[in-house]
Amino acid sequence: MTGEQSEHPPIGDTAGSPPTGGITRKKLLKAAVVAAPAPFLVGALPALAGNRTPSGQSLDPTPYCDDGDDPTPPQMEGPYFKPNSPQRTSMLDGTGTRLVLTGTVYGLACQPIANALLDFWQADANGAYDNTGFRFRGHQYTNSQGAFSLTTIVPGLYPGRTRHIHVKVQAPGRPILTTQLYFPGEPRNATDSLYNPALLMSIQNVGTERRATFDFVLNVNQTPGPTPTSTGTPPPSGTWRAGVSYPVGTQVSYNSLNYRCQIAHTSMVGWEPPNAPALWQRI
Ligand SMILES: [Fe+2]
Repeated sequence: MTGEQSEHPPIGDTAGSPPTGGITRKKLLKAAVVAAPAPFLVGALPALAGNRTPSGQSLDPTPYCDDGDDPTPPQMEGPYFKPNSPQRTSMLDGTGTRLVLTGTVYGLACQPIANALLDFWQADANGAYDNTGFRFRGHQYTNSQGAFSLTTIVPGLYPGRTRHIHVKVQAPGRPILTTQLYFPGEPRNATDSLYNPALLMSIQNVGTERRATFDFVLNVNQTPGPTPTSTGTPPPSGTWRAGVSYPVGTQVSYNSLNYRCQIAHTSMVGWEPPNAPALWQRI
């Protein structure tokens, strides 16, 4: 398909590359997953935690969330993101192998982030993106424990790329993380220049479906203690209000600035228009 190749960064463009830094235990664990024979790939290690190698060898205790130095790396958006995706946790919009992806969104202090926005998009079983409608597109928010669950299908392949799922993740009032998730054991992982093993999901085969896990770590500073979920924004001036179901296209004002709703949602404290560019576009 035309345009698919544009998901590859031009030579010399490192914008989509993960930040460089020291090798962490998590990266080593993920490298072990990549290198492991196929039978060990299925459910061998969760995406972020684990204290045994596939052979059962004990390792040093692993921090519950992360090593503290490597938030989930960004990747390029690609050509097929569309705003205004429907809010839903299931996007079974066509035939394919059922895939249930679950996980938690954390900040740098390993505290889960409630009400984080996740906006997923992917190809259908034939490797095609729906650019006229919203098949295999959907957004949701993490619950009070920072957890999310997406029911979808295993995306198909298209020329030039390995199998992947796109996602944007945003904590309230924080910048958007745009990245992609990958599947273990894919032959094209070895040849896709965008592929990053730090973005591998952990996948189990359960009957005819796949169950995947991936935990995001956002570059959000946190203080230990109860989950910080709100920016504590003082009451605004303007027409925007929390607790309102805003359809796409709604225009509101907030502290003397005007915004148009990009994704239908129910507003909440922490998702004020200036804090939620995925939801509100300045006009
Ligand atoms: Fe893609």
